[in-house]
Amino acid sequence: MITQVSAAGQEHLDALAALRLSFWQDQAAKGSREPTPACNAEELASLLGRRRTHWLVAMRDNKVVGYLFGQTKIVPGEQAQKISSIEEVMTVPAARRGGVARLLVDTALECFARDGSDRTQLRVLWDNAEAGSFWRDVGFAPYLTTLERESTA
Ligand SMILES: CC(C)(COP(=O)(O)OP(=O)(O)OC[C@H]1O[C@@H](n2cnc3c(N)ncnc32)[C@H](O)[C@@H]1OP(=O)(O)O)[C@@H](O)C(=O)NCCC(=O)NCCS
Repeated sequence: MITQVSAAGQEHLDALAALRLSFWQDQAAKGSREPTPACNAEELASLLGRRRTHWLVAMRDNKVVGYLFGQTKIVPGEQAQKISSIEEVMTVPAARRGGVARLLVDTALECFARDGSDRTQLRVLWDNAEAGSFWRDVGFAPYLTTLERESTA
């Protein structure tokens, strides 16, 4: 089955919004405490096309089967760095283990290289075992651990 990855356009907004909502629901189910961002077509439309921001969609048979959101930020300082991050990536359950996410990540890395990126990183939930295996497979290794104390208030 042929998968094609491209930058998301207006025609993908409804599918992208639905998939982004699924991503955040899945993250919450896996223990994420992060607030769910905008998951509607109107707000997503305002995010497309921003500089060094990459919204990618993976298409099969004219259907969106996965997406990736990544960006490159400039961290100022004497040794300023351009640090890219993969913020969100998801493949619809029916298309998993078919190389969709790998292709999305490969394409994002090409976008980051064009941004002039020095490093690429991402955050993954401690308990997200499937994602842990995936990230290892595509070449990412643990670098820094975020610790958080549960609020008692
Ligand atoms: C993680 C996720 C994006 C992987 O998407 P995918 O399209 O199925 O991944 P790929 O087919 O490109 O997998 C590439 C490789 O990663 C590894 N991998 C992917 N999913 C895996 C799983 N569930 N268990 C073990 N290894 C896995 C395998 O080595 C796989 O290669 P193989 O199928 O040839 O063995 C997908 O499971 C998903 O959408 N999960 C929910 C959202 C999520 O957790 N996103 C990551 C947040 S950090």
